Amino acid sequence: MIKITINNLSSKSIHCNSKTKSLLKVLQENYIDWMHACGGKGRCTTCKAIIVDGMNNMTPKTVFEENYQRVGRLDNNERLSCQAIVEGDLVIEVPELYKLPHIEYSR
Ligand code: FES
Repeated sequence: MIKITINNLSSKSIHCNSKTKSLLKVLQENYIDWMHACGGKGRCTTCKAIIVDGMNNMTPKTVFEENYQRVGRLDNNERLSCQAIVEGDLVIEVPELYKLPHIEYSR
């Protein structure tokens, strides 16, 4: 069972029993609202997650992510949640810029 902890959502933990789903999909299946302006097509960066721990527990960066990284819109410690397939435990945070107004974040 894969465990994903979201630090700035009061360290909420969610679980996933498949290694075939994107981080965004896992978040959605666990009723976590997460910004995703382009609908998960790799055409924006609003779904990004800061990876605090577990960067190696996801599939390699996609072409979309590499392109955003090259132009400075995706840092080394960030992934697009719609692109990264979760393969193991993660600790993540919602970036300040993409916090949703109706959610109370813990920091
Ligand atoms: S939702 Fe737009 S890149 Fe992921």
